[in-house]
Amino acid sequence: MKRIPIFFAIVTLAVSSAAFAADTIVIKFSHVVAPNTPKGKAAQKFKELAELYTKGRVKVELYPNSQLYKDREEMEALQLGAVQMLAPSLSKFGPLGVRAFEVFDLPYIFPNKESLYRVMDGDIGKKLFAKLAAKEIVGLAFWDNGFKQMSANKPLRNVEDFKGLKMRIQSSKVLDAQMRALGASPQVMAFSEVYTALQQGVVDGTENPMSNLYTQKMHEVQKHLTISDHGYLGYAVIANKKFWDGLPSDLRTSLEKAMQEATAFERDIAQKENDEALAKVRAAGTTEIYVLPLQERLTWHKVLLPVHKEFESVISQDLIHAIYNVAAQVEQEKTNKK
Ligand code: LMR
Repeated sequence: MKRIPIFFAIVTLAVSSAAFAADTIVIKFSHVVAPNTPKGKAAQKFKELAELYTKGRVKVELYPNSQLYKDREEMEALQLGAVQMLAPSLSKFGPLGVRAFEVFDLPYIFPNKESLYRVMDGDIGKKLFAKLAAKEIVGLAFWDNGFKQMSANKPLRNVEDFKGLKMRIQSSKVLDAQMRALGASPQVMAFSEVYTALQQGVVDGTENPMSNLYTQKMHEVQKHLTISDHGYLGYAVIANKKFWDGLPSDLRTSLEKAMQEATAFERDIAQKENDEALAKVRAAGTTEIYVLPLQERLTWHKVLLPVHKEFESVISQDLIHAIYNVAAQVEQEKTNKK
């Protein structure tokens, strides 16, 4: 008789811990970059805060470095619910049918980070996220990375230097047009394949912010780097809509708070991470670094600007002009302060 309560206690304990396990909501968060990048670090921060604020009721499992899925596959996995969260670059939404996101790829569209953040955090960003609902996706935040630099195994100083080069790009028609405008031959390729493709000469060069270039060791297989800041790379943190909408509202509120703080953290470290990556590439001594002088930059600008016009009908002229207006407003405010 004395054994029965102990038996019941054990059974009760087993049942309640099973129930607890069943109650824990798991978020699989997949991404394609290294953990020691702005995106990788912010994903880690989100995990820590999400688990803290939900008191462990939500567990976030991170899968960096294309461990689970490559670029295109991860979008499909999210829509199918095989993973719950991603943070793809803004250049990867075109194949999903939301071409307006390609506005971020237009060369030289953002003169500075202030204009960029104002676009991301204002009406334009909200309208872009609203477009994702039809794809069963919810947009949670815009994360930063930085302005892109060009690399190859030959110097890229003048526009003519691009002639005939095979340049790896992300799956964006704007980036395709950008490389063609420079006279190069663009090749769409998943991020996880770039290092080997550069090493084996399948492509001659690529573009990325420094943090991606350095953490993927691309500098080891690229003799030349041009600091051109010719375009921008950032992210949309997204979730499977059915999953997100189906969360208990208290948990969703806690996750939103975690996301807000992780986003502030991300914006804070992005530039620093890129500056440090540049310093490390410089120290590695594998790659000659050329900072594009103003005069040459103006030539690149002139050659690349027609890409804006070319994409007015696809992206929307209104959207492109709304971004010009934000940039002009930021400039005006800066002048007024002087
Ligand atoms: C790339 O494919 O070059 C980047 O989008 C990778 C990333 O997510 O930063």
